[in-house]
Amino acid sequence: MSENPAIDNLLHETRSFPPPEELAANANLKADAYDEADADYEAWWAKQGERLTWDTEPTQTLDWSNAPFAKWYSGGKLNAAYNAVDRHVEAGKGDKVAYYFEGEPGDTREITYSDLKDEISRGANALTELGVKAGDTVAIYMPMIPETIFAMLSCARIGAVHMVVFGGFAADSLATRINDCGAKVVITADGGYRRGKPAGLKDTVDAALEKTPDVHSVLVVRRTGQDTPMTDGRDRWWDEFVDGQSAEHTPEAFDAEHPLYIMYTSGTTGKPKGILHTTAGYLVGCSYTQWALFDLKDDDIYWTAADVGWVTGHSYIVYGPLVNGATSVLYEGTPDTPHQGRWWEIIDKYKVSLLYCAPTVIRMFMKWGEEIPAKYDLSTLRVMGSVGEPINPEAYVWYRRVIGHDNAPVVDTWWQTETGSVMISPLPGVTAAKPGSAMRPIPGISADVVDERGESVPNGSGGYLVVTKPWPSMLRTIWGDDDRYVDTYWSRFDGKYFAGDGAKKDEDGDIWLLGRVDDVMNVSGHRMSTTEIESALVSHPKVAEAAVVGASDETTGQAVVAFVILRGGAEDDGDATVQELRNHVAREISPIAKPRQVMVVPELPKTRSGKIMRRLLQDIAEKRDIGDVTTLADSTVMDQIQKKLTGGA
Ligand code: WTA
Repeated sequence: MSENPAIDNLLHETRSFPPPEELAANANLKADAYDEADADYEAWWAKQGERLTWDTEPTQTLDWSNAPFAKWYSGGKLNAAYNAVDRHVEAGKGDKVAYYFEGEPGDTREITYSDLKDEISRGANALTELGVKAGDTVAIYMPMIPETIFAMLSCARIGAVHMVVFGGFAADSLATRINDCGAKVVITADGGYRRGKPAGLKDTVDAALEKTPDVHSVLVVRRTGQDTPMTDGRDRWWDEFVDGQSAEHTPEAFDAEHPLYIMYTSGTTGKPKGILHTTAGYLVGCSYTQWALFDLKDDDIYWTAADVGWVTGHSYIVYGPLVNGATSVLYEGTPDTPHQGRWWEIIDKYKVSLLYCAPTVIRMFMKWGEEIPAKYDLSTLRVMGSVGEPINPEAYVWYRRVIGHDNAPVVDTWWQTETGSVMISPLPGVTAAKPGSAMRPIPGISADVVDERGESVPNGSGGYLVVTKPWPSMLRTIWGDDDRYVDTYWSRFDGKYFAGDGAKKDEDGDIWLLGRVDDVMNVSGHRMSTTEIESALVSHPKVAEAAVVGASDETTGQAVVAFVILRGGAEDDGDATVQELRNHVAREISPIAKPRQVMVVPELPKTRSGKIMRRLLQDIAEKRDIGDVTTLADSTVMDQIQKKLTGGA
């Protein structure tokens, strides 16, 4: 199914890297884990359920009687925050550091498990005073600071459902999400540090709240100290309101299937989907995978260099590491502030042993040059992960050689917001990993590559990635839209979860991910919907019509390229219009959605039924010869577009 020469190239990759001997000998998971899980996958997950401390033990591991609506660990009762924090304190690990926080300006904090218990107990009492009850939703819009984690766990402690919105999203995106999930309380900060400067967040919340009639309370963490107007009766400073609360709070046990959080992600339509994760299965999924795929040991220093506002942050900065009682690094800022060695300086300083990040940032480091990491001691690194997009073999090999001193295994982990935790990945102590391949479903997970009819393809062939059995950390539904949940994920192939990714099995049966097969783009590991950006463009008074494609890009994987038709009478003043439209998208959605290019064109290529042929636009964006145009309603359109773009019209 690949029309892309780069992908064919990829499949000729022949290198593979077996695990270092010592790691293999002491690995948390050994090769027999696959057999054990295959023999009885429910028994496997029942055993993984023992990672949690239950108030009431579950009576049934999986209830799939109402498929595709799963219930895991039925009958069980537990508290997520207790599992993440209190039980470690009770076990005598109160003084263990949960987070080494490193602020972008260089300020640092050490937060122990005892500190964390006090903070989230106060937070739970504060939310209760604001009237928040179990089952209510709370929106969180924060920078990467410890209070973001306190806020999430405070919600979990009282059974409230948190809905974190990445701090880069614009007011409109925030408002849509708040309204969709019905949040009445918002937790935010005055601002956060980004590239050496304070960047406001509360001002965005104020703008969003003009469109959210139900929000009655806003808690504001002081981070930057910037000027922050407060609305009387609605807004409260976190340090004044929360810090004064009692640090005593008894966590209540909730049902295993009690909702834990909602996270919005882009789908194929303009409307973002509220992915719902519930308590026990989700906690099992992320703690098991962090332990297995990073070979987590008690003295490891673990760092997921992602934002808490994305699922990677939820699962591998917050819940996975905390349920495992691990020590993590939490870094607020960008990799090049104040200098391009900042990450390596952090690894050197805290002796980080496990690192998890995205290919896009690795490609950026490659461009900056290997002499930068060479200045630091990275010898503590044991296992390194990659997530969010396919990692090209060159980036993989560079990561392993330059950062991992040619010894630390790289685990290329495939998963999604919907899957809650990693699904396909090498095991660091078992797999001889091939650069560019996520290899095999991990023990307990069953996935396959199928053709159009849903039949498993033979080795050496490509098709669609599916998950063939339910798993504990799977999404339970799309918030408020069960039909869309069934349609999107479970209707394409009978009884199988359709991931939306293309994939190929090589001759050994190992899996290579080939990117999305729907109208979803992946820019720097961020999921973006073409339709959502098109809607944003069309909301600009100058634009009549827009089509957006993801074009391959050396650094960001894909980049947003937009084609627009201006309205009759709208003036096309070249660069100024282009800049205006790019900024408009950044304002409407987020700077991460800002198109790399906007091309003003006279027409868009459409089929006779009026569907825009994005494939042809992609050819232009990627500077290829134009493919087959015979299905176009007007076959001269592509000529008109090219003439315009080369300055001929
Ligand atoms: C892509 C991020 C190839 C894929 C955790 C998926 C990957 C989407 C990989 C989910 C990988 C994630 N190799 N592609 N190792 N990991 N993807 O929801 O297209 O932000 O469907 O979750 O990212 O993105 P999401």
